Order: sequence, then C-alpha cells, then structure tokens
Amino acid sequence: MQPIQLAIVVGSVRAGRVGPTVAAWVRRIAAERSTVEVVDVDLADFELPNSLVPCENSERFTRTIGAADAFVVVTPEYNHGVPGALKTALDTVKYEWRGKPVGFVSYGGLGGGIRATEQLRQITAELHMVSVRDAVSLHRIRKRFDSEGGIDDPAAVDALGRLLDQIEWWAGARRRTDYPG
Ligand SMILES: Cc1cc2nc3c(=O)[nH]c(=O)nc-3n(C[C@H](O)[C@H](O)[C@H](O)COP(=O)(O)O)c2cc1C
Repeated sequence: MQPIQLAIVVGSVRAGRVGPTVAAWVRRIAAERSTVEVVDVDLADFELPNSLVPCENSERFTRTIGAADAFVVVTPEYNHGVPGALKTALDTVKYEWRGKPVGFVSYGGLGGGIRATEQLRQITAELHMVSVRDAVSLHRIRKRFDSEGGIDDPAAVDALGRLLDQIEWWAGARRRTDYPG
C-alpha cells in the first residue's frame, strides 16, 4: 500500500503565531508512521484572497489540497471561533476536499480551542469531509512546549495517536471505493 499523503494545515497566519510550533509537534509524531507521508501546508504561504477570486495562489492551493488524501488541521481559537484565514482557505476549495478525512489539533487559552474544533466539524461536513472523533486540545498554549518543541503531556500524545489511527482508517476506506457524493 502506498503511504497516505497527510497534509498538516497550519490554520493561523498571525504575526508571531504559535501555530508552526504546534504543527511541528504533530509532524514529528505523524512522520514516525511508515504508512504516512507528511506534507506541510502553511496558509501563510498562500495569502488566499477573502474575495475568493480565482488567482495563482488559489489555484496552487487547490492543487495542493487535491494531492492530499487526508488532513490534520492545526487551529487556534480566535474569539470563540475559527481563524478567518482558515475559513477562507476552506471556502476557497470545493471538490478537492470531498470524501477525505480530517482531524483537528486545536489550541488556545483556557478553552484549548475546542469551540474552533466544533465549528470546524460543521464546516467540514458541508464540504463532504469526514471529521474523526478524536481530537487534540491544548490549553494555555504559550506554556506547553519546551525549548526543543516537545510537550510533556502523555494524554495529548495518546489523543494524537488515536486521531491519526482514525484518519488512516478513513483514508484506506476511501481508497477501496469511490465517494458517491
Ligand atoms: C484575536 C484573538 C482572539 C483570541 N481569542 C481566543 C479565544 O476565544 N479563546 C482562546 O482560548 N484563546 C484566544 N486567543 C488566544 C490564542 O489562542 C493564542 O494567542 C494563540 O497563541 C493564538 O494562536 P496563534 O499564535 O497561532 O495565532 C485569542 C488570540 C487572538 C489574537
């Protein structure tokens, strides 16, 4: 079996963002699997227009999403919701998201970004994606990582493992039969 192409999407484009640190932790754990090939998708590299007008960047983004089999979305929570750049990215692409599994790694202050994750479950269902049950939620994000980008939280590591197991299962199911939607 070919390894699944797993895109890790950094959902924050804010100056001084923590997102890439969280994504690097996810990448390190996902890359330990021989069944997975990790692809980095940083929304800051695309500068997608809010107008949703087709452009070179949106076409490049659409191709990147089309090449992936599955996604882990790494997202902060802004004012109890999804970051605007991430919503724009989801709205920019249509068919290339379809029938693909997605898992969420959220982070934030006290809430750990769980409200952003719950909103993303609604949004991604409309895009014909399947969001896996297990998710990772990291609260008090500024204090979580050590100087080497590690995290002393076995429960979070366990949750990420379950999330990845579930994504792999759905990606395998998608390979066996065409999505009817
Ligand atoms: C505009 C804004 C709104 C925020 N709202 C929330 C919030 O509703 N809940 C929360 O837990 N943290 C909130 N935070 C704190 C962020 O989770 C924290 O700053 C985090 O580092 C943001 O991710 P980023 O650094 O990757 O952009 C907010 C931060 C910003 C900048």
